[in-house]
Amino acid sequence: MSILDTIKNIFKKEEEIQMKNILFVVGSLREGSFNHQQAQNAEKILEGKANVTYLDWSQVPVFSQDLEGQTPEAVKAAREAVLAADAVWFFSPVYNFAIPGSVKNLIDWLSRALDLSDTTGVSALQDKVTTVSLVANGGHEQAADQYRSLLPFVRTQFVDELTFARVNDSAWADGKFIAEEDVLAQLTKQADALLAAIN
Ligand SMILES: Cc1cc2nc3c(=O)[nH]c(=O)nc-3n(C[C@H](O)[C@H](O)[C@H](O)COP(=O)(O)O)c2cc1C
Repeated sequence: MSILDTIKNIFKKEEEIQMKNILFVVGSLREGSFNHQQAQNAEKILEGKANVTYLDWSQVPVFSQDLEGQTPEAVKAAREAVLAADAVWFFSPVYNFAIPGSVKNLIDWLSRALDLSDTTGVSALQDKVTTVSLVANGGHEQAADQYRSLLPFVRTQFVDELTFARVNDSAWADGKFIAEEDVLAQLTKQADALLAAIN
């Protein structure tokens, strides 16, 4: 590597250190998820403006208070990722005009007190800046309203600049989600609002 490249790398690392960390939670575990593709659109928009990481929550178990005493490893890892982030951006499908149960389950885990001796105490999500984008064909408003009440209820600072997108017809055949210009414009507006809330 040339000296110039080394210097460029140092500056790049410095920029990354200074940038805020945004954790993406894709609310669909489906391979080829349209919401995952939308998250990748947002990642591009945030390039050079924030560090983006994706939460792996595939192994988080169904919540039971019996499991809380010895926090499952997948929950511990999810909490650590949330704690390390300045903001959490959810990319969510709509199931039966509502929040997918799996995402609600994850939020339930993350909403619980870190120190079980005080169940009203601080959670991993405490005061975290959050926002949501939804890719679905119907029920965006209904699911959004649920997020609008749930995320502030679990004591997060909710950025209400949501992006709604419909699945293009061809995506069902070829798997490629195409975000229209107006969707990308709203996604950019949402990213800016999120950055403004954490910077
Ligand atoms: C249980 C279930 C319920 C669904 N309900 C809705 C719905 O209310 N509105 C909708 O537009 N799509 C609904 N869908 C279809 C999903 O939007 C579709 O599967 C979409 O691809 C999910 O997002 P993903 O591509 O990120 O996985 C439902 C799918 C499932 C599995």
